Amino acid sequence: MIYAPYVPSDRKINWLIEPYIENKIVYDLGAGEGILACNMVNTAKSVVAVEIDKDKASICRSKGLETITANFMSVDLTPADVLYVYQGYIGANHLANKLQIEEWKGTVICNSYPLADILKKPKEYSEMISYKGTPNINLFIYHYKRKKIK
Ligand SMILES: C[S@@+](CC[C@H](N)C(=O)[O-])C[C@H]1O[C@@H](n2cnc3c(N)ncnc32)[C@H](O)[C@@H]1O
Repeated sequence: MIYAPYVPSDRKINWLIEPYIENKIVYDLGAGEGILACNMVNTAKSVVAVEIDKDKASICRSKGLETITANFMSVDLTPADVLYVYQGYIGANHLANKLQIEEWKGTVICNSYPLADILKKPKEYSEMISYKGTPNINLFIYHYKRKKIK
């Protein structure tokens, strides 16, 4: 299922997300032409572009990005420390269900659309970054941590 058309994230997001991706394994879920993912490479430990559109995935690959051509709903996300998602309400809702079922642990950065539960109620986020400008940017950040075993 295609959740969102290709609209690249605003370039300011590069520096807004830097502290969250530093030395982390990052998956850009729906990487488009890989513009943001290529910038993430400078800060992250590694970056994986996941893209459903074959042509866009080829563009990512031609830029040297590790690329998975697939619906992110069918991808094993366990290697990732951080997920970046800019997919609209339904995409964020479906991803939230997948993460819950798979008990995924790590940080999720949602551009514009928060994760939501099965009743479409937005999930409580850990942090929110708001940038007032042109355009306004809202990033919803979720930290799903492993419970400490005593
Ligand atoms: C809004 S763009 C985001 C592009 C990039 N992540 C960025 O922030 O600049 C959404 C991208 O997700 C892709 N996409 C939509 N549904 C998808 C799915 N189910 N699995 C993987 N990619 C998907 C679209 O083809 C499009 O390139």
